[in-house]
Amino acid sequence: MPSHFPDDFLWGASTASYQIEGAVREDGRGPSIWDTFSHTPGKVLNGDTGDVACDHYHRWRDDVALLRELGVGAYRFSTAWPRILPRGRGPVNEKGLEFYDRLVDAILDAGIQPWICLYHWDLPQALEDQGGWRNRDVARWYADYAVLTARRLGDRVKHWATFNEPNNVAFRGYGEGDHAPGLRSRAAALEAAHVLNLAHGFGMRALREERPDFQLGNIYNFHPREPAGDREQDVVACAMLDAIMNRAFPDAQILGRYPEPIAAEMEKLIAPGDFEIIRQKLDYFAFNHYTRSRVRHDSDHPFHFARLEPEPGKPVTDMGWEIAPDAFRQTMVEMKERYSEELPMYILENGAAFADRVDDKGRVNDRERIAYLRDYLGAVQDAIAAGVPVKGYFVWSLLDNFEWALGYDKRFGLVYVDYDTQKRYLKNSFHFYAELANGAALERG
Ligand code: FCB
Repeated sequence: MPSHFPDDFLWGASTASYQIEGAVREDGRGPSIWDTFSHTPGKVLNGDTGDVACDHYHRWRDDVALLRELGVGAYRFSTAWPRILPRGRGPVNEKGLEFYDRLVDAILDAGIQPWICLYHWDLPQALEDQGGWRNRDVARWYADYAVLTARRLGDRVKHWATFNEPNNVAFRGYGEGDHAPGLRSRAAALEAAHVLNLAHGFGMRALREERPDFQLGNIYNFHPREPAGDREQDVVACAMLDAIMNRAFPDAQILGRYPEPIAAEMEKLIAPGDFEIIRQKLDYFAFNHYTRSRVRHDSDHPFHFARLEPEPGKPVTDMGWEIAPDAFRQTMVEMKERYSEELPMYILENGAAFADRVDDKGRVNDRERIAYLRDYLGAVQDAIAAGVPVKGYFVWSLLDNFEWALGYDKRFGLVYVDYDTQKRYLKNSFHFYAELANGAALERG
Protein backbone atom coordinates (compact mmCIF):
# COMPACT_ATOMS: atom_id res chain seq x y z
CA MET A 1 0.00 0.00 0.00
CA PRO A 2 1.48 3.38 -0.98
CA SER A 3 1.48 5.92 1.78
CA HIS A 4 2.64 9.54 1.70
CA PHE A 5 4.70 11.50 4.21
CA PRO A 6 3.47 14.96 5.21
CA ASP A 7 4.32 17.64 2.63
CA ASP A 8 6.66 19.46 4.98
CA PHE A 9 8.49 16.30 6.09
CA LEU A 10 12.24 16.99 6.12
CA TRP A 11 14.42 14.43 4.33
CA GLY A 12 18.06 14.46 5.26
CA ALA A 13 21.36 12.64 5.21
CA SER A 14 24.02 12.57 7.92
CA THR A 15 27.80 12.22 8.11
CA ALA A 16 30.52 13.03 10.65
CA SER A 17 33.87 14.76 10.32
CA TYR A 18 36.29 12.03 11.38
CA GLN A 19 34.39 9.40 9.43
CA ILE A 20 34.64 11.15 6.05
CA GLU A 21 37.07 14.08 5.97
CA GLY A 22 40.58 12.55 6.00
CA ALA A 23 43.31 15.21 5.59
CA VAL A 24 44.07 14.85 9.26
CA ARG A 25 47.39 16.66 9.10
CA GLU A 26 46.42 19.27 6.56
CA ASP A 27 45.93 23.02 6.85
CA GLY A 28 46.74 23.19 10.52
CA ARG A 29 44.34 20.58 11.92
CA GLY A 30 45.49 19.27 15.29
CA PRO A 31 45.34 15.61 16.31
CA SER A 32 42.16 14.22 17.83
CA ILE A 33 41.67 11.28 20.16
CA TRP A 34 40.52 9.23 17.18
CA ASP A 35 43.84 9.81 15.40
CA THR A 36 45.67 8.56 18.47
CA PHE A 37 43.31 5.65 19.00
CA SER A 38 43.19 4.46 15.39
CA HIS A 39 46.99 4.60 15.18
CA THR A 40 47.30 2.42 18.28
CA PRO A 41 47.78 -1.16 17.09
CA GLY A 42 44.88 -3.46 17.83
CA LYS A 43 42.26 -0.79 18.43
CA VAL A 44 40.62 -0.63 14.99
CA LEU A 45 39.87 -3.57 12.73
CA ASN A 46 42.54 -4.11 10.04
CA GLY A 47 44.53 -1.19 11.46
CA ASP A 48 42.28 1.25 9.57
CA THR A 49 42.52 4.95 10.39
CA GLY A 50 40.68 8.11 9.35
CA ASP A 51 43.82 9.53 7.73
CA VAL A 52 42.20 9.55 4.28
CA ALA A 53 38.66 8.25 4.92
CA CYS A 54 36.43 9.45 2.04
CA ASP A 55 38.84 12.29 1.29
CA HIS A 56 35.87 14.57 1.74
CA TYR A 57 38.16 17.44 2.75
CA HIS A 58 39.22 17.59 -0.90
CA ARG A 59 36.09 16.17 -2.55
CA TRP A 60 33.45 18.17 -0.71
CA ARG A 61 32.22 19.81 -3.92
CA ASP A 62 31.47 16.41 -5.46
CA ASP A 63 29.82 15.24 -2.26
CA VAL A 64 27.57 18.29 -2.12
CA ALA A 65 26.67 17.57 -5.77
CA LEU A 66 25.62 14.08 -4.62
CA LEU A 67 23.40 15.61 -1.96
CA ARG A 68 21.82 17.82 -4.56
CA GLU A 69 21.18 14.81 -6.75
CA LEU A 70 19.71 12.96 -3.80
CA GLY A 71 17.25 15.82 -3.42
CA VAL A 72 17.38 16.04 0.37
CA GLY A 73 16.17 19.14 2.17
CA ALA A 74 18.85 18.98 4.87
CA TYR A 75 22.36 17.74 5.39
CA ARG A 76 23.73 17.03 8.84
CA PHE A 77 27.51 17.03 9.24
CA SER A 78 29.89 17.77 12.08
CA THR A 79 32.62 20.32 12.54
CA ALA A 80 35.92 18.94 13.77
CA TRP A 81 36.97 20.79 16.91
CA PRO A 82 40.69 20.08 16.24
CA ARG A 83 40.41 21.60 12.78
CA ILE A 84 39.10 24.84 14.26
CA LEU A 85 41.11 24.87 17.50
CA PRO A 86 44.06 22.53 16.93
CA ARG A 87 44.88 22.40 20.65
CA GLY A 88 41.26 22.55 21.76
CA ARG A 89 41.56 26.12 23.03
CA GLY A 90 43.80 29.08 22.32
CA PRO A 91 44.97 29.80 18.78
CA VAL A 92 42.26 29.57 16.14
CA ASN A 93 43.01 27.84 12.85
CA GLU A 94 41.54 30.15 10.23
CA LYS A 95 41.91 27.52 7.52
CA GLY A 96 39.70 25.14 9.46
CA LEU A 97 36.94 27.72 9.71
CA GLU A 98 37.34 28.54 6.03
CA PHE A 99 36.74 24.91 5.12
CA TYR A 100 33.37 24.86 6.88
CA ASP A 101 32.55 28.31 5.55
CA ARG A 102 32.92 27.10 1.96
CA LEU A 103 31.08 23.88 2.72
CA VAL A 104 28.10 25.73 4.23
CA ASP A 105 27.92 28.06 1.23
CA ALA A 106 27.95 25.13 -1.19
CA ILE A 107 25.23 23.32 0.77
CA LEU A 108 23.05 26.43 0.72
CA ASP A 109 23.72 26.95 -2.99
CA ALA A 110 22.41 23.44 -3.53
CA GLY A 111 19.16 24.48 -1.83
CA ILE A 112 19.87 22.34 1.24
CA GLN A 113 19.67 23.33 4.94
CA PRO A 114 22.93 22.71 6.79
CA TRP A 115 22.51 21.09 10.22
CA ILE A 116 25.69 21.18 12.26
CA CYS A 117 26.62 18.85 15.05
CA LEU A 118 29.43 20.43 17.06
CA TYR A 119 30.84 17.23 18.46
CA HIS A 120 30.90 13.87 16.77
CA TRP A 121 33.61 12.26 18.89
CA ASP A 122 36.84 13.89 17.67
CA LEU A 123 38.07 15.58 20.85
CA PRO A 124 41.36 17.44 20.40
CA GLN A 125 44.08 15.19 21.80
CA ALA A 126 45.55 18.15 23.69
CA LEU A 127 42.38 18.23 25.80
CA GLU A 128 42.42 14.50 26.44
CA ASP A 129 45.96 15.03 27.73
CA GLN A 130 44.36 17.26 30.37
CA GLY A 131 41.81 14.67 31.41
CA GLY A 132 39.42 14.97 28.47
CA TRP A 133 35.77 14.63 29.39
CA ARG A 134 36.68 13.85 32.99
CA ASN A 135 37.89 17.42 33.42
CA ARG A 136 35.15 19.94 34.21
CA ASP A 137 37.15 22.74 32.54
CA VAL A 138 36.66 20.98 29.22
CA ALA A 139 32.94 21.66 29.48
CA ARG A 140 33.62 25.41 29.43
CA TRP A 141 36.22 25.13 26.69
CA TYR A 142 33.67 23.22 24.65
CA ALA A 143 31.25 26.15 24.98
CA ASP A 144 33.99 28.54 23.80
CA TYR A 145 34.57 26.36 20.74
CA ALA A 146 30.81 26.16 20.09
CA VAL A 147 30.41 29.94 20.17
CA LEU A 148 33.49 30.53 18.03
CA THR A 149 32.11 28.18 15.38
CA ALA A 150 28.60 29.57 15.58
CA ARG A 151 29.88 33.13 15.29
CA ARG A 152 31.46 32.22 12.00
CA LEU A 153 28.63 30.15 10.53
CA GLY A 154 25.55 31.24 12.43
CA ASP A 155 24.50 33.84 9.89
CA ARG A 156 23.75 30.90 7.58
CA VAL A 157 23.25 27.87 9.83
CA LYS A 158 20.16 27.79 12.03
CA HIS A 159 20.15 24.17 13.26
CA TRP A 160 22.79 23.14 15.75
CA ALA A 161 23.30 20.09 17.90
CA THR A 162 25.66 20.18 20.86
CA PHE A 163 26.68 16.50 20.78
CA ASN A 164 26.18 13.31 18.87
CA GLU A 165 25.42 10.39 21.18
CA PRO A 166 27.13 11.57 24.35
CA ASN A 167 26.28 8.14 25.79
CA ASN A 168 28.78 6.47 23.49
CA VAL A 169 31.39 9.13 24.21
CA ALA A 170 31.18 8.48 27.94
CA PHE A 171 30.37 4.81 28.19
CA ARG A 172 32.26 3.35 25.26
CA GLY A 173 35.11 5.88 25.24
CA TYR A 174 35.78 5.87 28.99
CA GLY A 175 33.79 2.86 30.24
CA GLU A 176 34.09 -0.05 27.84
CA GLY A 177 37.17 1.28 26.06
CA ASP A 178 36.42 0.11 22.53
CA HIS A 179 36.16 3.75 21.40
CA ALA A 180 38.64 6.61 21.84
CA PRO A 181 40.21 7.46 24.21
CA GLY A 182 39.95 3.79 25.16
CA LEU A 183 39.64 3.79 28.96
CA ARG A 184 37.89 0.92 30.66
CA SER A 185 36.67 2.34 33.94
CA ARG A 186 33.29 2.70 35.54
CA ALA A 187 34.34 5.76 37.54
CA ALA A 188 35.84 7.51 34.51
CA ALA A 189 32.73 6.85 32.42
CA LEU A 190 30.43 8.34 35.04
CA GLU A 191 32.66 11.38 35.44
CA ALA A 192 32.72 11.86 31.67
CA ALA A 193 28.93 11.55 31.51
CA HIS A 194 28.47 14.36 33.99
CA VAL A 195 31.02 16.64 32.33
CA LEU A 196 29.41 15.99 28.94
CA ASN A 197 26.07 16.98 30.39
CA LEU A 198 27.62 20.17 31.75
CA ALA A 199 29.23 20.87 28.38
CA HIS A 200 25.85 20.51 26.71
CA GLY A 201 24.40 22.99 29.21
CA PHE A 202 27.18 25.55 28.90
CA GLY A 203 27.10 25.15 25.12
CA MET A 204 23.33 25.61 24.91
CA ARG A 205 23.42 28.67 27.14
CA ALA A 206 26.23 30.31 25.18
CA LEU A 207 24.71 29.54 21.78
CA ARG A 208 21.32 30.83 22.88
CA GLU A 209 22.88 34.07 24.08
CA GLU A 210 24.79 34.41 20.84
CA ARG A 211 21.74 33.95 18.61
CA PRO A 212 18.29 33.60 20.14
CA ASP A 213 16.97 32.45 16.75
CA PHE A 214 19.07 29.26 16.66
CA GLN A 215 17.31 25.90 16.74
CA LEU A 216 19.20 23.93 19.36
CA GLY A 217 19.22 20.35 20.57
CA ASN A 218 21.31 17.32 21.36
CA ILE A 219 21.41 14.07 19.41
CA TYR A 220 20.58 11.22 21.76
CA ASN A 221 20.84 7.55 21.05
CA PHE A 222 17.99 5.32 22.08
CA HIS A 223 17.62 1.57 21.73
CA PRO A 224 15.13 -0.61 23.57
CA ARG A 225 16.77 -3.28 25.73
CA GLU A 226 15.24 -6.42 27.13
CA PRO A 227 16.60 -8.79 29.73
CA ALA A 228 17.59 -12.15 28.26
CA GLY A 229 15.25 -13.93 30.65
CA ASP A 230 13.57 -13.36 33.97
CA ARG A 231 16.63 -14.05 36.15
CA GLU A 232 16.93 -11.19 38.62
CA GLN A 233 20.54 -10.43 37.74
CA ASP A 234 19.69 -10.11 34.03
CA VAL A 235 16.84 -7.75 34.86
CA VAL A 236 19.23 -5.63 36.93
CA ALA A 237 21.85 -5.69 34.16
CA CYS A 238 19.26 -4.56 31.65
CA ALA A 239 18.11 -1.67 33.84
CA MET A 240 21.73 -0.57 34.15
CA LEU A 241 22.33 -0.68 30.41
CA ASP A 242 19.13 1.28 29.87
CA ALA A 243 20.23 3.86 32.45
CA ILE A 244 23.67 4.52 31.03
CA MET A 245 23.14 4.02 27.32
CA ASN A 246 19.63 5.40 26.91
CA ARG A 247 18.72 7.67 29.80
CA ALA A 248 21.74 9.30 31.41
CA PHE A 249 21.67 12.21 28.95
CA PRO A 250 18.02 12.93 28.11
CA ASP A 251 16.99 12.34 31.74
CA ALA A 252 19.59 14.80 32.99
CA GLN A 253 19.08 17.41 30.29
CA ILE A 254 15.29 17.29 30.08
CA LEU A 255 14.06 15.90 33.39
CA GLY A 256 16.88 17.31 35.50
CA ARG A 257 17.99 14.10 37.23
CA TYR A 258 19.98 10.92 36.72
CA PRO A 259 18.16 7.61 36.28
CA GLU A 260 17.80 5.55 39.42
CA PRO A 261 20.41 2.81 38.85
CA ILE A 262 23.24 5.37 38.70
CA ALA A 263 21.71 8.23 40.72
CA ALA A 264 23.57 7.45 43.97
CA GLU A 265 26.93 7.10 42.24
CA MET A 266 26.43 10.37 40.37
CA GLU A 267 25.64 12.24 43.58
CA LYS A 268 29.28 12.85 44.46
CA LEU A 269 30.00 14.35 41.05
CA ILE A 270 27.21 16.92 41.15
CA ALA A 271 28.18 20.39 42.36
CA PRO A 272 25.53 22.87 43.53
CA GLY A 273 23.92 24.55 40.53
CA ASP A 274 24.96 21.89 38.01
CA PHE A 275 21.45 20.96 37.01
CA GLU A 276 20.55 24.58 36.37
CA ILE A 277 23.28 24.54 33.74
CA ILE A 278 22.50 21.09 32.37
CA ARG A 279 18.75 21.53 32.04
CA GLN A 280 18.26 23.92 29.13
CA LYS A 281 15.21 24.27 26.97
CA LEU A 282 15.56 22.34 23.72
CA ASP A 283 14.02 23.45 20.42
CA TYR A 284 13.74 19.94 19.03
CA PHE A 285 14.11 16.39 20.25
CA ALA A 286 16.51 14.34 18.15
CA PHE A 287 17.81 10.84 18.40
CA ASN A 288 19.56 8.10 16.45
CA HIS A 289 18.22 4.59 16.33
CA TYR A 290 19.24 1.33 14.66
CA THR A 291 18.12 -1.78 16.53
CA ARG A 292 17.13 -3.32 19.85
CA SER A 293 19.01 -5.81 21.97
CA ARG A 294 18.82 -8.34 24.77
CA VAL A 295 20.95 -8.08 27.85
CA ARG A 296 22.37 -10.42 30.47
CA HIS A 297 24.53 -10.10 33.56
CA ASP A 298 28.31 -10.13 33.06
CA SER A 299 30.54 -9.59 36.07
CA ASP A 300 33.58 -8.72 33.90
CA HIS A 301 31.94 -5.65 32.43
CA PRO A 302 32.48 -2.34 34.27
CA PHE A 303 28.71 -1.95 34.51
CA HIS A 304 28.03 -5.69 34.80
CA PHE A 305 26.11 -6.33 31.61
CA ALA A 306 26.60 -7.92 28.21
CA ARG A 307 24.63 -7.34 25.04
CA LEU A 308 23.51 -10.60 23.49
CA GLU A 309 23.52 -11.54 19.84
CA PRO A 310 20.00 -11.62 18.37
CA GLU A 311 18.27 -14.98 18.63
CA PRO A 312 19.06 -17.32 15.75
CA GLY A 313 16.72 -16.83 12.82
CA LYS A 314 16.13 -13.13 13.45
CA PRO A 315 16.95 -10.90 10.47
CA VAL A 316 20.16 -8.93 11.01
CA THR A 317 22.30 -6.35 9.22
CA ASP A 318 26.00 -6.73 8.52
CA MET A 319 26.64 -5.24 11.99
CA GLY A 320 24.81 -8.24 13.45
CA TRP A 321 22.08 -5.83 14.58
CA GLU A 322 18.54 -7.15 14.60
CA ILE A 323 16.17 -5.59 12.08
CA ALA A 324 13.19 -4.69 14.26
CA PRO A 325 11.19 -1.79 12.82
CA ASP A 326 8.41 -2.15 15.36
CA ALA A 327 10.90 -1.46 18.15
CA PHE A 328 11.62 1.80 16.32
CA ARG A 329 7.94 2.78 16.27
CA GLN A 330 7.64 1.98 19.96
CA THR A 331 10.75 4.03 20.71
CA MET A 332 9.35 7.11 18.97
CA VAL A 333 6.10 6.81 20.92
CA GLU A 334 7.99 6.33 24.19
CA MET A 335 10.34 9.26 23.52
CA LYS A 336 7.39 11.57 22.99
CA GLU A 337 5.71 10.45 26.19
CA ARG A 338 8.80 10.53 28.33
CA TYR A 339 10.69 13.54 27.05
CA SER A 340 9.45 15.58 24.22
CA GLU A 341 5.70 16.11 24.39
CA GLU A 342 5.09 18.75 21.74
CA LEU A 343 8.71 19.28 20.68
CA PRO A 344 9.27 18.51 17.02
CA MET A 345 11.05 15.17 16.78
CA TYR A 346 13.82 14.40 14.31
CA ILE A 347 15.44 11.07 13.58
CA LEU A 348 18.98 12.21 12.87
CA GLU A 349 20.45 8.79 12.10
CA ASN A 350 18.99 5.53 10.94
CA GLY A 351 20.27 3.12 8.33
CA ALA A 352 21.97 -0.21 7.83
CA ALA A 353 25.30 -1.76 6.91
CA PHE A 354 25.37 -4.52 4.33
CA ALA A 355 28.24 -6.15 2.44
CA ASP A 356 27.70 -4.26 -0.81
CA ARG A 357 29.39 -5.13 -4.11
CA VAL A 358 29.77 -3.05 -7.27
CA ASP A 359 28.81 -5.14 -10.30
CA ASP A 360 30.57 -5.00 -13.65
CA LYS A 361 28.17 -2.30 -14.83
CA GLY A 362 29.04 -0.09 -11.85
CA ARG A 363 25.76 -0.78 -10.07
CA VAL A 364 25.19 -1.69 -6.44
CA ASN A 365 22.04 -3.66 -5.99
CA ASP A 366 21.55 -3.24 -2.23
CA ARG A 367 18.11 -4.79 -1.96
CA GLU A 368 18.48 -5.45 1.75
CA ARG A 369 19.17 -1.80 2.56
CA ILE A 370 16.12 -0.75 0.57
CA ALA A 371 14.02 -3.26 2.49
CA TYR A 372 15.44 -2.00 5.81
CA LEU A 373 14.72 1.63 4.93
CA ARG A 374 11.24 0.76 3.70
CA ASP A 375 10.40 -0.98 6.96
CA TYR A 376 11.94 1.68 9.21
CA LEU A 377 10.29 4.50 7.28
CA GLY A 378 7.03 2.60 7.59
CA ALA A 379 7.59 2.72 11.35
CA VAL A 380 7.99 6.51 11.08
CA GLN A 381 4.65 6.73 9.30
CA ASP A 382 3.05 4.58 11.99
CA ALA A 383 4.49 6.81 14.72
CA ILE A 384 3.17 9.91 12.97
CA ALA A 385 -0.25 8.25 12.70
CA ALA A 386 -0.06 7.55 16.45
CA GLY A 387 0.42 11.28 17.10
CA VAL A 388 4.20 11.54 17.41
CA PRO A 389 5.36 14.82 15.83
CA VAL A 390 8.18 13.33 13.72
CA LYS A 391 9.17 16.17 11.43
CA GLY A 392 12.17 14.72 9.66
CA TYR A 393 14.35 11.70 9.02
CA PHE A 394 18.07 11.71 8.21
CA VAL A 395 19.60 8.58 6.77
CA TRP A 396 22.94 7.29 8.02
CA SER A 397 24.78 7.79 5.82
CA LEU A 398 25.36 9.67 2.61
CA LEU A 399 28.62 7.79 2.00
CA ASP A 400 30.26 4.58 3.13
CA ASN A 401 32.76 5.74 5.73
CA PHE A 402 35.07 4.98 8.66
CA GLU A 403 32.88 2.98 11.02
CA TRP A 404 34.92 3.62 14.19
CA ALA A 405 36.43 0.47 15.71
CA LEU A 406 35.27 -1.50 12.67
CA GLY A 407 37.19 0.68 10.21
CA TYR A 408 36.11 0.46 6.59
CA ASP A 409 34.66 -3.00 6.98
CA LYS A 410 31.05 -1.87 7.37
CA ARG A 411 29.27 0.07 4.65
CA PHE A 412 26.33 2.29 5.67
CA GLY A 413 26.22 4.63 2.67
CA LEU A 414 23.64 5.31 0.00
CA VAL A 415 26.80 5.92 -2.01
CA TYR A 416 29.46 3.24 -2.30
CA VAL A 417 33.04 4.45 -1.85
CA ASP A 418 35.89 2.55 -3.48
CA TYR A 419 38.63 3.41 -0.99
CA ASP A 420 41.43 2.63 -3.48
CA THR A 421 40.28 5.13 -6.07
CA GLN A 422 37.85 7.28 -4.03
CA LYS A 423 35.35 6.76 -6.80
CA ARG A 424 31.74 7.06 -5.66
CA TYR A 425 28.99 4.72 -7.00
CA LEU A 426 25.31 5.39 -6.40
CA LYS A 427 23.69 2.36 -4.80
CA ASN A 428 20.12 1.44 -5.72
CA SER A 429 19.08 2.66 -2.27
CA PHE A 430 20.27 6.13 -3.32
CA HIS A 431 17.64 6.15 -6.08
CA PHE A 432 15.02 4.72 -3.73
CA TYR A 433 15.70 7.45 -1.17
CA ALA A 434 15.84 10.19 -3.83
CA GLU A 435 12.32 9.28 -4.96
CA LEU A 436 11.00 9.62 -1.43
CA ALA A 437 12.82 12.91 -0.94
CA ASN A 438 11.11 14.05 -4.13
CA GLY A 439 7.70 13.34 -2.74
CA ALA A 440 7.03 9.75 -3.82
CA ALA A 441 4.78 7.63 -1.62
CA LEU A 442 6.30 4.83 0.44
CA GLU A 443 5.28 1.42 -0.91
CA ARG A 444 4.47 -0.47 2.26
CA GLY A 445 4.86 -4.24 2.33
C1 FCB B 1 26.15 5.84 15.38
C2 FCB B 1 27.18 6.92 15.16
C3 FCB B 1 27.56 7.11 13.71
C4 FCB B 1 27.69 5.79 13.00
C5 FCB B 1 26.47 4.93 13.22
C6 FCB B 1 26.49 3.60 12.51
O1 FCB B 1 26.21 5.40 16.69
O2 FCB B 1 26.71 8.15 15.64
O3 FCB B 1 28.75 7.86 13.67
O4 FCB B 1 28.86 5.15 13.35
O5 FCB B 1 26.29 4.71 14.59
